[in-house]
Amino acid sequence: MAHHVAIYPGTFDPLTLGHHDIMRRAARICDHLIVGVAENVGKNPLFSVSERFDIVSQVIDKDIQNGDMPDHVTVKTFNNLLTDFARAEQASILIRGLRAVSDFEYEFQMASANKRLNADIETIFLMAPEQQHFVASRLVKEVAAYGGDISSFVCPEVAEAVKAKIGK
Ligand code: PNS
Repeated sequence: MAHHVAIYPGTFDPLTLGHHDIMRRAARICDHLIVGVAENVGKNPLFSVSERFDIVSQVIDKDIQNGDMPDHVTVKTFNNLLTDFARAEQASILIRGLRAVSDFEYEFQMASANKRLNADIETIFLMAPEQQHFVASRLVKEVAAYGGDISSFVCPEVAEAVKAKIGK
């Protein structure tokens, strides 16, 4: 029987509740989920890749311990082409979350390019949860930078890390 390995890639700077929901749902539809934290220096992230790895790992470990996520979820960092990372991990599925229509063009371009780079890999889109449709990592950072309350956008662990980083 086929063993479906999926990658959920992202910058996760920081992980939002929308990302968290997608991770949990993606884990249910594959045999092994790898959350791929992209170094993405081009995006000038607030958190280093190892900080983002630690935060995502912490949230996943807690979920697994609480029985909110199956234990076939692992976290890895990558700093190469997503399709090369997927090939090295023997993954045949890429998971992406879709929020509003505004995400579509970027996601369509990325999925099409990835398909061209490796025709054996399928991108599967999961709809972001309704309550989180407008939430983006960029928005979380902006609200936090002005001292706003981000507790309804991110998990408590993430809120702590953002506050510590931004100093508010
Ligand atoms: O959460 P993000 O920032 O929208 O995720 C973007 C990500 C990490 C999926 C994208 O930047 C990526 O795949 N980076 C790896 C380099 C790569 O393969 N680029 C070409 C994508 S078509």
